[in-house]
Amino acid sequence: MSRLAGGVVLVTAQEPPLDPDDPGAPDGEYAGMTATAFLSVSLDPPLVLVSLRTGSRMDDLLDEQPLWAVSVLSESQRHIAGRFAMKGRLSDRLLFEDVPYVRGEATGAPLVGGALGTLECRTEQRVEAGDHTLVIGRVLKARMPSADGGPLLYFRGRYRQLG
Ligand SMILES: Cc1cc2nc3c(=O)[nH]c(=O)nc-3n(C[C@H](O)[C@H](O)[C@H](O)COP(=O)(O)O)c2cc1C
Repeated sequence: MSRLAGGVVLVTAQEPPLDPDDPGAPDGEYAGMTATAFLSVSLDPPLVLVSLRTGSRMDDLLDEQPLWAVSVLSESQRHIAGRFAMKGRLSDRLLFEDVPYVRGEATGAPLVGGALGTLECRTEQRVEAGDHTLVIGRVLKARMPSADGGPLLYFRGRYRQLG
């Protein structure tokens, strides 16, 4: 599979507040995870799929939080991909500190500025598949924050760009 070139995305979500019954409780933290196992599934209705390692922090979070987002990273965002692939750093607020983002209207999840595209999704189905969970989401909103720029790719264990 390392010979299959893939685009790189950042999957994001907002953790639920610690006490959902308390309206004064602080908002949950943002979480992000680098992924290549992301694909479009259906156009009508618009469905996409991300495959998450079972028991990873994003898998646990999306088990509770049905709203999430995907930012399709550009070739200039390799540092973001590297940072959000680190183990155990999923919801560290500092990770987002110098990353430009807006809060998605439909999901509350961070959408990375300068990404080639962003999708906001609601989980429709979770399918256990071996040691991964296939999370199928309906696309609620799609945007293209950056008009141009090439994609960030991953091939044979390295980040690459076109050309
Ligand atoms: C280029 C790249 C692509 C990745 N793709 C996926 C993926 O599609 N699904 C996944 O579960 N993890 C993927 N990972 C691994 C996660 O980014 C990484 O394991 C996670 O951030 C660590 O979270 P954890 O602390 O919960 O284990 C990828 C890592 C890299 C560097």
